[in-house]
Amino acid sequence: MVVRAAGLWKTYHGRTGEPVPVLGGVDLEVKAGEFVAVVGASGSGKSTLLNLLGLLERADAGEIWFDGERVSHLSRRAQCRVRGMSIGYVFQSFLLIEEMTALDNVLLAARYVARDERQAEREAVALMERLGVSHRRGHYPSQLSGGEQQRVAYCRAVLNDPPFLLADEPTGNLDEEHAKVILTELQGRVRERGTSAILVTHRPETSALANRILRLRNGRIEPS
Ligand SMILES: Nc1ncnc2c1ncn2[C@@H]1O[C@H](COP(=O)(O)OP(=O)(O)OP(=O)(O)O)[C@@H](O)[C@H]1O
Ligand SMILES: [Mg+2]
Repeated sequence: MVVRAAGLWKTYHGRTGEPVPVLGGVDLEVKAGEFVAVVGASGSGKSTLLNLLGLLERADAGEIWFDGERVSHLSRRAQCRVRGMSIGYVFQSFLLIEEMTALDNVLLAARYVARDERQAEREAVALMERLGVSHRRGHYPSQLSGGEQQRVAYCRAVLNDPPFLLADEPTGNLDEEHAKVILTELQGRVRERGTSAILVTHRPETSALANRILRLRNGRIEPS
């Protein structure tokens, strides 16, 4: 999928209403089969940008296009559908559901689009095996280590083969070996399935794997 953003602006407001300008005119394009890394200081707006592109929050101004469709201006309900069909999101804070086992968390996406359950479960277990968490599939998130939760969150995000994958520091809690497993999986996915991927990272060795690096600074993407 080709993802295009033009002129994205976002200002938050603090407790007393004071403005916190975060993004001030972000333009970007990610092609199918492209793996783009987003880097920038803490607080520079990386997660904010991902939330806008993932249709979780609305920009104050600007447009987002998925292929030929302007998704930024769809209704909430229509955006929800686009998210379910097209977007995989690995959140910085995982956001696993505490009352559900690891396996059921991974299967959430499949349930959402009403896939055949047995087939989805087979794929989920295979994916969890590749990421080294299948032996924890019956455990609840609070019983998992941070790195295990992160890998479960990754499995949940990719189970449906979304054409657009957003990952916010998906290797932040992982040792080198497990980070490499996720990154190799992600790279293979981008290459073989033509996924467009945007990944936020602080690790130089991760951004080195990307096709392109976008640097956020002062609310914009610095020219490279
Ligand atoms: N809901 C909110 N209300 C007010 N301010 C917010 C809100 N969300 C984010 N911010 C502010 O916006 C700025 C950008 O936050 P964001 O989470 O996008 O940064 P980041 O680049 O992802 O940082 P990090 O690397 O630490 O994750 C920060 O200064 C943050 O305090
Ligand atoms: Mg962040």
